[in-house]
Amino acid sequence: MEINDGARGDAQQSPAHALQATDEPGNFWDRRYAEMASLWSGQPNGTLVQEVTEVKPGRVLDVGCGEGADALWLAEKGWNVTALDVSRVALARAAREAGTRGLRVTWLHSGLVEAALPDGSFDLVSAQYPALLRTPENLAERALLDAVAPGGLLLAVHHPLPTADVARARGIDLAEYVGLAEIRALLDGNWRIEVDEVRPRHVAAGAGAHHTEDVVLKARRLR
Ligand SMILES: C[S@@+](CC[C@H](N)C(=O)[O-])C[C@H]1O[C@@H](n2cnc3c(N)ncnc32)[C@H](O)[C@@H]1O
Repeated sequence: MEINDGARGDAQQSPAHALQATDEPGNFWDRRYAEMASLWSGQPNGTLVQEVTEVKPGRVLDVGCGEGADALWLAEKGWNVTALDVSRVALARAAREAGTRGLRVTWLHSGLVEAALPDGSFDLVSAQYPALLRTPENLAERALLDAVAPGGLLLAVHHPLPTADVARARGIDLAEYVGLAEIRALLDGNWRIEVDEVRPRHVAAGAGAHHTEDVVLKARRLR
């Protein structure tokens, strides 16, 4: 199964990001994935399933696809799937599973911004806990929105934000990451928000099983 190397553009992240200052995000995530045979549950994310089961399949972009459970579920449902991630380790797992299940997905080894995807090219852009780094220019948020075709949907799902103290104790600086607030702030009159809520989440296995709520933002691009 082929994994494409995305365009490595010159878009630089702010040197203020601790992760960037010491490391490439891909290396960080590769190490995280390499710590275990599978990091996540292997099941598609519940909110994706809830929100997309009844949507007519078209072209979908899975941003930060990880080990590919969502991308494979979408492919099974008849979507034309492009799935991108900075981790080669995760993508290799995803591609292997796709081969086992006889599913076609375009796997792209790239950061979202660096992939420089054509504007308006996806009927659905799904970003499930994507851990995108912030930049002063809001590059990641704009890339998410720009990728959605007129009439299409953006579905962004995050974990609820911990307090700044709890985050710091876990070694996370919340200011480094794109949250739903940053995405919501860029939704202008060309967009209609269809879901903006916190809802229960039930995941039985994997490194994310302790999270019990999803923060969900679903918006439709009107034009
Ligand atoms: C918390 S995991 C979520 C994985 C998957 N969406 C899921 O729900 O199981 C975050 C993922 O985002 C990827 N990632 C981090 N920064 C990225 C970026 N700039 N562009 C694309 N993917 C990125 C990581 O490699 C990781 O696989």
